[in-house]
Amino acid sequence: MYPLHRPRRLRTTPAMRRLVSETEVRPRQLVLPMFVKEGLGSPAEIGSMPGVLQHTRDSLRKAAVEAVQAGVGGIMLFGVPAERDAVGSAGTDPDGILNAALGDLRAELGDSTVLMSDCCLDEFTDHGHCGVLAADGTVDNDATLAAYGELAVAQARAGAHVVGPSGMMDGQIAFIRNALDAAGCTDTGILAYAVKYASAFYGPFRDAVESQLAGDRKTYQQDPANAREAIREVQLDLAEGADMVMVKPALLYLDVLRSVAEISDVPVAAYQISGEYAMIEAAAANGWIDRERSILESLTSIRRAGADIILTYWAVEAARWLDR
Ligand code: PBG
Repeated sequence: MYPLHRPRRLRTTPAMRRLVSETEVRPRQLVLPMFVKEGLGSPAEIGSMPGVLQHTRDSLRKAAVEAVQAGVGGIMLFGVPAERDAVGSAGTDPDGILNAALGDLRAELGDSTVLMSDCCLDEFTDHGHCGVLAADGTVDNDATLAAYGELAVAQARAGAHVVGPSGMMDGQIAFIRNALDAAGCTDTGILAYAVKYASAFYGPFRDAVESQLAGDRKTYQQDPANAREAIREVQLDLAEGADMVMVKPALLYLDVLRSVAEISDVPVAAYQISGEYAMIEAAAANGWIDRERSILESLTSIRRAGADIILTYWAVEAARWLDR
């Protein structure tokens, strides 16, 4: 008799497929990144990210409540300030847009969700880099660490449960941990963007935060050609005290995500970034792919590769689909 083995047997009926399905995506595993802009009159859609908004403080509060009601596991907040300077002062100002909005959300939501904040300077600097610049125009690693420490403490005091350092400076996790502890914020966690590649797919995000970056981030973000240094970055961040580690982007780096998941002893997150969002939305808008199936397949793939947590702009919509 031929064939001897028939794997199709396990695919015969919906009930059979449901029984043998290995990977699940649950709403609680999804984190919604949100943008809040200072001085905005009404929420504004981001052109390259259809369906994603720059929020006012007021619309942010309402949308965050809806997200929590939909069952998402957390919120990652980014701020777009009205004024930028060379050192990103608006980030540490307690009345700066990100800190003020964190305060709003913590007051509104309490501990009913996990409130996270982008702990980076690029949204606040006029040159758009993730750090402060040395006299020769390069990003000064150690001077930037001091700024990150202040940023983290300001965000923790404003209401963040977890800070997300995304600037890829060496030593940032240990420095931030020490700064938080010295300020008495020992319960504030750190989601380390341990592995972050210099990706072309951040383009729409830079529209979302109205980035003024002229060059690129290749002296601090990783080369897409390299997998080995991802392991080194994760090991360093774990040794420095990361509570969770993240791989970013997600879909283009599933191999890296898998190898990180194999060595991490803390939860592993993956960031399905703006360009991944825009690609699927654009193809779906053209009728070239099925939108819902594509989104759910992408999330399933990221989970299958090893992510415990997924940051995704579809968090709320996907949570609703997954709850059906
Ligand atoms: C830096 C930061 C970036 C993103 C998250 N944090 C942009 C960058 O490194 O240029 C990108 C997220 C996305 O593309 O969705 N603060």
